[in-house]
Amino acid sequence: MNELPIFQPFVSGSDLGAEVLAGLMSNPKTLPCKYLYDGVGSSLFEAITHLREYACSRGEKALLEAHRSQIMGAVGGAPEFVELGGGTGEKAFLLLSTATQTGIRYHNLDISETALDISANVIKSLDNVTFYGHAGEFFEGLPVALRNRRGPVTVLFLGSSIGNFTVSESNKFLTDLRSNLERGDFLLLGTDLEKPVDRLVMAYDDPQGVTSAFNKNLLARINYELSANFDLSKFAHEARWNQPDGCIEMHLRSLVDQAVRISRLKLICSFSEGETIRTERSHKYRGGIIGGWLSSAGWELSEQWIDQPSLFALNLACAA
Ligand code: TRP
Repeated sequence: MNELPIFQPFVSGSDLGAEVLAGLMSNPKTLPCKYLYDGVGSSLFEAITHLREYACSRGEKALLEAHRSQIMGAVGGAPEFVELGGGTGEKAFLLLSTATQTGIRYHNLDISETALDISANVIKSLDNVTFYGHAGEFFEGLPVALRNRRGPVTVLFLGSSIGNFTVSESNKFLTDLRSNLERGDFLLLGTDLEKPVDRLVMAYDDPQGVTSAFNKNLLARINYELSANFDLSKFAHEARWNQPDGCIEMHLRSLVDQAVRISRLKLICSFSEGETIRTERSHKYRGGIIGGWLSSAGWELSEQWIDQPSLFALNLACAA
């Protein structure tokens, strides 16, 4: 029998106001990418995953479909699955629908409650899986999800979300993740690989303008939640390749000299024409470095599958 979706409330450490203030006061201006994913943002991101130009999700899905039995076999009878930023739960569904064992627990840790609601419904159709949703930050939800663990845990961190960290942040993240887990637990990690720059830029600046709407929605969200008056027509979405750091950067470029009022923060923020707010970084990797990178954070890479059309890799590692 499947239980109803279970949401484990905990006080979330995310604070939109404080983080927007810090980001807009810094030089150059930045905003944290996690705030892209409100209800509207999560739906727009879902649309991005279907874009021809954004091959990342399609490639990862193809890998999951092709290797899910092997993955489920490798993690053995691991009863606990924890997905970091599982969104609408489709990838977990692909994987878990091949599981033959009963009594699986699937925890989705996601910042978007809308996405959690959708994923609860997606997972509900699997009779052998109980769904738990945790709204908020990964490292707050993780100990809650793991509190009553009954055996090996498999952590899913897909969609190359790891790429949204800098190299040193991702190392810290993988080390912190390892320290929350036990020897013999598993990590299934999705990583987008290096590819020609024009392909990358198109993936983050599609001609239909979906990615632009996704990026600009962050300003609409700030308008709504912090009583601000960003004029969305006076900002343009921009995706650029940062060669030294090996990442795509998403920016919002001010088209004019302007001042924006953010009433809840008691802030007037000035922008000069051409100035940008960086909203996201997405690092691209060489397949060959991932094993060494994981091992320096306490993980041992056991398998790596690469989808050639999209140049995306799925990596299965074990906590050493
Ligand atoms: N984690 C995804 C990535 O970096 C998120 C993403 C896709 C994204 N397209 C975007 C984030 C556009 C901001 C803007 O690939």
